[in-house]
Amino acid sequence: MKQNDKSEALYQKAVGLIPGGVSRNTVFHKPFPQYAAKASGCYVTDIDGNKRIDFANNMASLIHGHAHPAIVEAVTAQLKKGTAYTLATEVELLLAELLINRAESFEKIRFVNSGTEAVMAMIKASRAFTGKPKIAKAEGAYHGTYDFAEVSQTANPFNWGDISSPNSVPLAHGTPQAVLDNVIIFPFNDIKRTLHILDTQADQIACVIIDPVPHRVGLLPATKAFIKALYDWTRRNNALLVFDEVVTFRVNYGGAQEKYDVKPDLTALGKIIGGGFPVGALAGRAEVMEVLDPSQSRLLFPHSGTFSANPMTMTAGKVAMELFDQNAVDALNILTKKAIVQIENAIRIADVPVSITGAGSMFRIHFRLAAPQTYREAYQRPDVAAIINQLLDYLFYKENIIMINTCACMFSTAITHKEVDKLTDALLNGFRFIRPKLEELYGQNISFP
Ligand SMILES: Cc1ncc(COP(=O)(O)O)c(C=O)c1O
Repeated sequence: MKQNDKSEALYQKAVGLIPGGVSRNTVFHKPFPQYAAKASGCYVTDIDGNKRIDFANNMASLIHGHAHPAIVEAVTAQLKKGTAYTLATEVELLLAELLINRAESFEKIRFVNSGTEAVMAMIKASRAFTGKPKIAKAEGAYHGTYDFAEVSQTANPFNWGDISSPNSVPLAHGTPQAVLDNVIIFPFNDIKRTLHILDTQADQIACVIIDPVPHRVGLLPATKAFIKALYDWTRRNNALLVFDEVVTFRVNYGGAQEKYDVKPDLTALGKIIGGGFPVGALAGRAEVMEVLDPSQSRLLFPHSGTFSANPMTMTAGKVAMELFDQNAVDALNILTKKAIVQIENAIRIADVPVSITGAGSMFRIHFRLAAPQTYREAYQRPDVAAIINQLLDYLFYKENIIMINTCACMFSTAITHKEVDKLTDALLNGFRFIRPKLEELYGQNISFP
């Protein structure tokens, strides 16, 4: 029996049923993806019996790892009472209250089913409130799969254009020109260029959307000065400052926004607030959130969703967020910091041109000597990306470590010092494994452009 026989057999069946054999590209992997059988805490076992330590946590959504007993118990009780009704439920209010109490800018909240939906609702609410059509977003930022949010998500050197006025690059073939015309792209953390770009279309911009630690941009925290500059610009120009905290809400008790001097008008949430179930939410200033209020005589933004605020998700989310209290947030961030220090040591020992960025309980490994400061610096050339994939495969198959495919880790509270030590040892071995490949690419004196 080979290590992955059963997964390989399932994949052969899958390609006949699902395009490419997968329903989410995240799990697509050549020559075939692995199929999960079960998981508990920070360990996942596939159907061939391989057990791995999980540092991806379903793309940062499982803040307490897999099958946390308290979440399982609460959800099992709810399951027996029904999974969704055409009625409201009290548990929705309990989770709403919990979240509103965590962040100063959350005056009202509404639940949806995914981060994508939350960002979409946030953009539409911004348009409804300001009466303006356009949005501005950072080059390279991932905000889910809404047409407008996707623009320039994967801009590359062949299409990104001049940094002073980046192109609006379509992601999906067939994206209407009208969408591209309504999305203005700016360079993350670059105040001067960004303000200049925004000024050129000030009267058209409904909102400036920003992820305060955008993963695909490089997992680089936005500077306080950048956020303040965006905030001030939106005050001057009748626009909203809106945050995508779908991933970053884990960074502090009140999300990444807690550490900034100014607060967003609206915030999109998702991932951890669903306790492992599909979720999204839109929270923010009561005056703006009123556009969603069906009791208003003139409803500006009609909005619904069959499974929005379903009691399964609300129950799991409530327990997960109760458990992720200030102490849990602090302990997780300290553990992550320890991991980063250890991995930086492994980088020195292996003598590889590698750097780390991140915030709170997340970090990303870059194949450059100095940590990138911009999306264009963090951009992975295809030949470098190929080596990163070799490292990820080495970690997955030889060391039984699951990381996110950008070479990032999003920790869960189920991880302990033991798993952090295993991760460090595995990465040290992995860095040694790829060092000759880097030398081949860059010459003996390996340094990166
Ligand atoms: C920053 C950010 N926004 C939005 C989304 C979309 O969330 P979902 O996958 O739940 O639609 C993601 C998903 O990874 C994300 O990372």
